[in-house]
Amino acid sequence: MNLLLAEVAQATQRLADAGVPSPRNDAEELAAFVHAVKRGELHSVKDSDFDARYWEVVARREQREPLQHITGRAFFRYLELQVGPGVFVPRPETESVVGWAIDAVRAMDVVEPLIVDLCTGSGAIALALAQEVPRSRVHAVELSEDALRWTRKNMEGSRVDLRQGDARDAFHDLDGQVDLVISNPPYIPLTEWEYVAPEARDYDPDLALFSGEDGLDLIRGLERTAHRLLRPGGVVVIEHADTQGGQVPWIFTEERGWADAADHPDLNNRPRFATARRAMP
Ligand SMILES: C[S@@+](CC[C@H](N)C(=O)[O-])C[C@H]1O[C@@H](n2cnc3c(N)ncnc32)[C@H](O)[C@@H]1O
Repeated sequence: MNLLLAEVAQATQRLADAGVPSPRNDAEELAAFVHAVKRGELHSVKDSDFDARYWEVVARREQREPLQHITGRAFFRYLELQVGPGVFVPRPETESVVGWAIDAVRAMDVVEPLIVDLCTGSGAIALALAQEVPRSRVHAVELSEDALRWTRKNMEGSRVDLRQGDARDAFHDLDGQVDLVISNPPYIPLTEWEYVAPEARDYDPDLALFSGEDGLDLIRGLERTAHRLLRPGGVVVIEHADTQGGQVPWIFTEERGWADAADHPDLNNRPRFATARRAMP
């Protein structure tokens, strides 16, 4: 075993002792980051090239600073995004929400699908849809100026129309025309603050996490926005907490002009996102 792999094994134990959920993964990612190699190439780093800065970044992760803040990057579907203080780190759960949205848009058979991402954060969802749905016209909105500093970097050179503002009052120019509205909004109930993992509670912005006592304040507002934006037959998909699977579909009721309201699990089989179709007149 080379020196680096021995140090990675030690770091894994330290991270596990600190309660890091995926210690081996993170110890390897940090080693790859510091030595500027891919994870699969760690064995090829010569002992003489071992960089002692590895222990500095391991110590930061031990303090539960998110891996993505230390490396400055987050992977999301086929994208590598820049992230850091002020912006929410995109999560793997959201990748399945985007997967559902891509299938839904394909099934529509629209030549240039019009898509709106509400609460875009780093831009993960909007950029993935722009990349994976050919000829899509993608629009995104974000309220926080701190987050937007990262969004603008990530969207440089992309065809996404990015705007600053409150999602509940956005895109009046697109009213009644949109094929797909998608959102991963803040949804954690304020009452659950103490149970949130330190990486999120201490590093993701509060505006990205919490939304009223039951976590559904903004989702209730987004239902009205989606209703206004979608064309008849258009669909909405909204991510929620795994405890909200019984509540969110009920916000999209027939009386309010919705059809086919349903809830869907993520890859870990936990309730994760709700979908509904704007009813035909
Ligand atoms: C959970 S994060 C999700 C970010 C991104 N969509 C993702 O999946 O990685 C929620 C985002 O909503 C933004 N936000 C919160 N309230 C908002 C509002 N009223 N209008 C627009 N954006 C808002 C936050 O700043 C944050 O960037």
